[in-house]
Amino acid sequence: MEIIIKATPEEASRCAFEKIREEMERGAKVLGLATGSTPVRLYRIMRESELDFSGMTSINLDEYMGLSEDSPHSYHHFMHEQLFDAKPFKKNYLLDGMADEVEECAQFEAIIAANPIDVQILGIGTNGHIGFNEPGTSFDSRTQKVALWQSTIDSNKRYFADEKDVPRFAYSMGIQSILSSRQIILMAFGKEKAAAVKAALEGPVTEDLPASVLQTHKHVTVILDEAAAQML
Ligand code: GLP
Repeated sequence: MEIIIKATPEEASRCAFEKIREEMERGAKVLGLATGSTPVRLYRIMRESELDFSGMTSINLDEYMGLSEDSPHSYHHFMHEQLFDAKPFKKNYLLDGMADEVEECAQFEAIIAANPIDVQILGIGTNGHIGFNEPGTSFDSRTQKVALWQSTIDSNKRYFADEKDVPRFAYSMGIQSILSSRQIILMAFGKEKAAAVKAALEGPVTEDLPASVLQTHKHVTVILDEAAAQML
C-alpha cells in the first residue's frame, strides 16, 4: 500500500488525477468512480483537463434506492453534473435505484465482470465505509441492497432539504466487487476522516471497519491531505 500525504485537498486531488492520467496512458479503459464531496476536486480537474474519455467506460460504486436518475439527489445526477456532461465517456454504468433488487444487482455484477475495473476511486465514510458498505458488511459481499447507518444519513443530509428525505437504503457494489479492481485509489480529506483513516490503514483487518480490507489488496494508493493523515 502506498500512502501519499499532500498539504491540501487540491494538491491531493491533482495527485490522484496524475495517477489516472498515467494509467490511461498505460491502457486503462475502465474507471470505477465514487460520489460524495471527496472526489469533487478530482472531477473538476478531469473536466478542465485535455484528457479524452470518449474511449473509456465508467462504473459507479453505488446509488440511493428509490431515487430516479433525474432526481437532483441521485448519484446519476451528481455524476452527470460533476463529470459526464463535460467529459463524455464511451459508456457510463450506474446502478438504477428504481430497479428490481435481484435483477439489478445480478446485472451490475455481470457488467463488472465484463468490464474489469482498472482504477477504482474510493472515498471513506467516517465509520470506515467504502461505497455504501457499512461496518459489518461481509468481505465476500457482491453488489447488493444495503441499509444506511444513521451516521451516514446524518453525513449526507447536507445534500437534502430535510433529514427525512435521505433514502434509508441504497444499492452498492460489495467488498468483493471493489477488491476485484486492478488498482484502487482511496482519497480522504479533513480531520473528520482521520480516525477512520488510521483504523483502515493501521488497525486490524476486520469487517467492523470495511476500508481495512484494502490492506489485503495488491495495488492500493491512499492519497490524503494533512488533516486526514494527522493520526497516522
Ligand atoms: C458516501 C458515499 C461514499 C463516500 C463516502 C464519503 O456516503 N456512498 O462513496 O466515499 O460516503 O463521503 P464524502 O466524500 O462526502 O465525505
